[in-house]
Amino acid sequence: MSYTTAKHAVVGMIRHAALELSADRVRVNGIAPGVVLTPLIAKAFGVPVDRADALVTFLEKRLTGTHLMGDPTMNRPYIVCHMMTALDGKITGPYMKTKAVNGASDEYERINASYHPQAWLCGRVTTDDNFTFYQKPALDRHAPAIPEGDHVAAADARMHYVSVDPSGKLGWKTNTVKYEDRPVAHVVEVLTAKASNAYRAFLRKMKISYIVAGKDQLDCKVAAEKLKSLFKIETLMLSGGGFINWSFLQAGLVDELSLVIAPVADGENDTVTLFEKSSYLPDHLPVEFSLKGVEMGKGDSVWLRYSVKNSKHRERAHRNRGRENDPAH
Ligand SMILES: NC(=O)c1ccc[n+]([C@@H]2O[C@H](COP(=O)([O-])OP(=O)(O)OC[C@H]3O[C@@H](n4cnc5c(N)ncnc54)[C@H](OP(=O)(O)O)[C@@H]3O)[C@@H](O)[C@H]2O)c1
Repeated sequence: MSYTTAKHAVVGMIRHAALELSADRVRVNGIAPGVVLTPLIAKAFGVPVDRADALVTFLEKRLTGTHLMGDPTMNRPYIVCHMMTALDGKITGPYMKTKAVNGASDEYERINASYHPQAWLCGRVTTDDNFTFYQKPALDRHAPAIPEGDHVAAADARMHYVSVDPSGKLGWKTNTVKYEDRPVAHVVEVLTAKASNAYRAFLRKMKISYIVAGKDQLDCKVAAEKLKSLFKIETLMLSGGGFINWSFLQAGLVDELSLVIAPVADGENDTVTLFEKSSYLPDHLPVEFSLKGVEMGKGDSVWLRYSVKNSKHRERAHRNRGRENDPAH
């Protein structure tokens, strides 16, 4: 009460002085310094006192409503599926080697940075294609028993590369990755309980963090929640491939789709598209989107932004499905 009263009093004083002194042609301005992350503010906004970046993303969401970022009231990060595709929806293939993708690639990185993420997440195949190159991990079959559960090797990394690797296959050589102009990212592996003791020992030896999400099958929800609670990830870019994108989308965990389209098509029929249904997923209901924005970009690229309607949609689809077998409908 006293805090708020004092703030309003300052504004009142400025207004009054401006009115009173305007007759003498004196202009009175008030300068507000913006929000400073004090313990009081941290408590009020529900962010950690040492995480100015979390406060910034929270305020961006509240004030602009444009780039919706991490919400301290949510127990998982704000998840943006951010992808670049050809006109035919392909996310990989011969078109990637054409000049037509240059402008779109620049836009892809620029837009990625504009979300101020603390992590990007990819599937096992994407990691092998870009960082681990299908090398086998150096496993010690006689490694001592590793405690159950998660392992945080670096709790304060500025950027994280989250790699979904359910069985523990990736042959990492370092615990960081460098991609384009992004900050060096600490590697976090998402395993399931079926990953071996030897693989978990390997990750610990490499100083790579890991979380366990699911028994045999990946539990995307658990993964998302642990990424927030253990690594303070407020905004997560879900960055392919198609199988991991669809896994998160089906689980109702994608808040926004950010799609950069390059002006090219290659018509390949054996390459993956933006979303691909995998056999390990139980159902594959269609998902609807609402358009949030369209922008033209460099090199004839287009940036499309959508919010995802699937939580409601899934409920309705499930209800309708039940009715098909119900003689009352
Ligand atoms: N254009 C772009 O913006 C862009 C972005 C990213 C990637 N890409 C390209 O996309 C291609 C790879 O895409 P992809 O769709 O084939 O592979 P992906 O999504 O990168 O990885 C698929 C793998 O992830 C694991 N996985 C995914 N969802 C799972 C789930 N629900 N449960 C258990 N495991 C799950 C499985 O690993 P296991 O096989 O080990 O079980 C699965 O084989 C690459 O060529 C890459 O370069 C393009």
